[in-house]
Amino acid sequence: MGTPLWNRKHLLGMADMSREEIQSILDAAASLREVNRREIKKVPTLRGKTIINLFFENSTRTRTSFELAGKRMSADVINMSAASSSVKKGETLIDTLATLQAMNPDVVVIRHPDSGAQELLARHLDASLVNAGDGRHEHPTQALLDLLTIHDHLPLLERDSFEGLVVAVCGDSLHSRVARSIALALRTMGGEVRFIGPPGLIPPKAEEAFGTRVFHSMEEGLKGAHVVMMLRLQLERMNVGFIPSVREYFAFWGLTRARLACAEPGAFVMHPGPINRGVEISSEVADDKERSVILEQVANGLAVRMAVLYRLCGMGGGR
Ligand code: CP
Repeated sequence: MGTPLWNRKHLLGMADMSREEIQSILDAAASLREVNRREIKKVPTLRGKTIINLFFENSTRTRTSFELAGKRMSADVINMSAASSSVKKGETLIDTLATLQAMNPDVVVIRHPDSGAQELLARHLDASLVNAGDGRHEHPTQALLDLLTIHDHLPLLERDSFEGLVVAVCGDSLHSRVARSIALALRTMGGEVRFIGPPGLIPPKAEEAFGTRVFHSMEEGLKGAHVVMMLRLQLERMNVGFIPSVREYFAFWGLTRARLACAEPGAFVMHPGPINRGVEISSEVADDKERSVILEQVANGLAVRMAVLYRLCGMGGGR
């Protein structure tokens, strides 16, 4: 697996990750995913290490895959949710973290609804911290699994790198940490990112902040796209009505076969999940095994989270 550069204690976001660091995770993930295809899906790599997953927001994919990632590498894994923690009894987040720190974990994985929460928490932790999503700010392991999935499909697009690849990120990028993290990651890797959506659902100054081009028409923005990444409407982060109705939203912004035909021939469809059928994506596209790689993203999520835990625990050129 080589010993590429990896001196990072925490994984908080894609904003300051170098191309070499990103590549080192992708290489480790590509190698580790073989474990997930074995009959006995377990290796002793992280035996004796302790991982705590602390989720203050709902999750299916991220939480399950971090748990499995740790267990498949033989770490001791503890899962905690906000609902069952003493935060509900008035304990502060920092006191909760100090309590967990006293048990000497190696990695703490945290999802929190406040943007920037993990950056603050990392200052109070001796263990490594992984940001599993902070508000609308960043979701770095999602970006890494997206990159791995795109990388797997580069040969089908007759490409050998991310350079010049056009990725259309469609829908509610304003409230999406996934959109921010993949835009920052692809900028580092040399790809072109477009944000497509209604003006009210695009982050202000997106061009400057994320190096993206902005389009307010699916048909226009999809022209020349190699990858079409659909986003869920993040209704839980909207405090006013951003769309007139779901039916109207789908009519203008939903991904149908006809709209997908505006992208490059062979363009494939991604979605971080959970998908909302008939809102941002039609079932005919989501379930099209020739074009949709949504479940490959989930499988790659497990491999990427194994790679992240592996690197943060000091394996393969780590601290
Ligand atoms: N993509 C993603 O973060 O999904 P979950 O909310 O299910 O973890």
